[in-house]
Amino acid sequence: MEDKLNILFTRDEIATTVERLAAEIRRDYLTKHPVLLAVLKGSFIFLADLIRQLDFPLEIEFVRLSSYGKGTESSGRVKMAPGALSKIRGRHVLVVEDIIDTGLTAAFLLDYLRRKKPASLKLCSLTDKPERRRVMVNIDYRGLTVPDKFIVGYGIDCDERYRHLPDIYVVEQ
Ligand code: IMP
Ligand code: MG
Repeated sequence: MEDKLNILFTRDEIATTVERLAAEIRRDYLTKHPVLLAVLKGSFIFLADLIRQLDFPLEIEFVRLSSYGKGTESSGRVKMAPGALSKIRGRHVLVVEDIIDTGLTAAFLLDYLRRKKPASLKLCSLTDKPERRRVMVNIDYRGLTVPDKFIVGYGIDCDERYRHLPDIYVVEQ
């Protein structure tokens, strides 16, 4: 069955948001040589656009969260790329997410990372769906607020579909 997609944010609105977030991040991390830790897979396009707006030394790493059982319940496990863990201790770590929904994924990951003793730990998310929050999560660099709807595009998927779309859409079900 074909999904009906309605545009929510155009590529121009997204680009403006990425520019704003990059300016905020630049101001705080200019001399800190941060590690940007992107959560796969949804944040890969956001990360790619974001770092091209950052004109100072930084590193990138990737992390993947796997959940047990079905759905998006993120009680699961953190899988870091080999070597990524050694980059956390004593470093200024900025987690880069595509969306904060219930907040369970981010809360779990931040808690895990905090125990690895970073010099500082902050969260940047392109989108925020506050109506569905189940745990409090502080988003230090917050992009676009989304309604309680399922969104796709700009790296964000529905069953691995639609990641390649340059704009962000609501899936009407
Ligand atoms: P959480 O509920 O904040 O833990 O988010 C869990 C994960 O669910 C996110 O990282 C996304 O991968 C996914 N997710 C939540 N809302 C959406 C959506 O509207 N579209 C696509 N994926 C979503
Ligand atoms: Mg995600």
